[in-house]
Amino acid sequence: MTKTRYAIVGTGSRATMYIDALCGPHSGHCDLVALCDTSSVRMSYHNRRLSGRYGRPAVPAYPASDFAGLIGRERPDVVIVTTVDAYHHRYIVAAMEHGCDVITEKPMTTDEAKVAQILSAVERTGRRLTVTFNYRYSAAYTRLRQLVAGGAIGTPHLVDFSWTLDTSHGADYFRRWHREKPMSGGLLVHKASHHFDLVNWWIGSWPETVYAMGSLSFYGREAAVGRGEAYGYSRYTGQGPMTHGDPFSLDLERSPMLRGLYLDAEEQSGYLRDRNVFGEEISIEDTMVVSARYRSGALLSYSLVAYSPWEGLRVAITGDKGRLELYERHGAHVIEQTPTGEGTGADGAAYDRRIRLFPMFRSPVDIDVEAGTSPHAGDSLMLEQLFAPSPPPDPWNRAASHLDGAASVLLGAAANQSLARGVPVAIDQLTGRPVAR
Ligand SMILES: NC(=O)c1ccc[n+]([C@@H]2O[C@H](COP(=O)([O-])OP(=O)(O)OC[C@H]3O[C@@H](n4cnc5c(N)ncnc54)[C@H](O)[C@@H]3O)[C@@H](O)[C@H]2O)c1
Repeated sequence: MTKTRYAIVGTGSRATMYIDALCGPHSGHCDLVALCDTSSVRMSYHNRRLSGRYGRPAVPAYPASDFAGLIGRERPDVVIVTTVDAYHHRYIVAAMEHGCDVITEKPMTTDEAKVAQILSAVERTGRRLTVTFNYRYSAAYTRLRQLVAGGAIGTPHLVDFSWTLDTSHGADYFRRWHREKPMSGGLLVHKASHHFDLVNWWIGSWPETVYAMGSLSFYGREAAVGRGEAYGYSRYTGQGPMTHGDPFSLDLERSPMLRGLYLDAEEQSGYLRDRNVFGEEISIEDTMVVSARYRSGALLSYSLVAYSPWEGLRVAITGDKGRLELYERHGAHVIEQTPTGEGTGADGAAYDRRIRLFPMFRSPVDIDVEAGTSPHAGDSLMLEQLFAPSPPPDPWNRAASHLDGAASVLLGAAANQSLARGVPVAIDQLTGRPVAR
């Protein structure tokens, strides 16, 4: 059997999931042929791990400046993009121009101009672009899609969606590149693209007009000083006792992964993984509300906060035949673990999830959902769909296309524009052309 050839560009922590899938359960039909990154130290970490865990020889490691050389010499069929968000478009477009299909992590990209570049590259090349919205594969979220698509609430008219990141998971976006809006698009793109995609998919429509407000109210130096707090360190590692007792501290010495991927690579890459969350130069929000109108006429009311004592979500979708409610909460800690492994505190087991259907004029019904306590619980299902030669049928269309990727980024990008300008933003005006479905 000829194996499909994969290259991975962006070899930080997320790349690990794809490497493990390609070299583990899918190694019979998939071949990892190359890595590419701006940091050779990070690529070496993954190559050492490949040999230690899978007994495999190192794969060729290409600097980002020689991506074209990688394509020419290693001839991948598919390029997997797991770089910092702001650079996804470069590799998506270049890989498709060279005749490869692409799998990209969410968000597909960070702003409307880059969305336009990607869409025109797909049209020009005819290559396939898949955006890995793994949340779609989580049992509870798939169940919501089944219920709405099956007519349980009739036509959906209002989605009320509130996502709370706790002080462990939420803080992690304020330690590194995510905290710079040009790198991540802010949480309205980087994080909310997951949630906007779920809404788009649940109600089967796309956003049209968006209004947003947001602030940096908790993280950052100014907010800390406002509360009378002062910090004498711009990063956490190597500060000695000064950071002891600081619940936001992250010590890169403490795990082989953090050391190998980040601390050891600092000198070469300048990438600091553990910046003080109450430091300077944070250009993203930690508190956000968004209102949107969909093409179907449905309305969305969304909020995101990044410093809650518990992590989870509340979603209510009301239609003309009833209402569905989903509630998930994890004690004082996370339903989604950060790459640093934080969040597994003493309260980690205090997990609570409920889906309730309120049909109009009838008694409410509690909906059973199979176990799996994290939005990431569906990752292996997604990897099977991505990599298996004959994946099981997926009647819920969980595989997301470039258009789905665009729709969720554009909602976030429009929200960013609205925040900056203080006015509602029409998505078609943002892109200069309607994104067709
Ligand atoms: N679906 C999910 O739930 C999920 C979870 C985690 C991360 N992600 C996504 O995965 C991607 C990577 O996140 P991460 O946590 O691994 O971040 P990371 O910082 O650990 O890794 C990013 C990598 O990109 C590399 N890079 C930066 N600029 C580059 C360039 N110009 N060319 C090539 N490589 C470059 C960095 O050197 C680094 O190795 C992001 O897009 C993120 O949104 C998705």
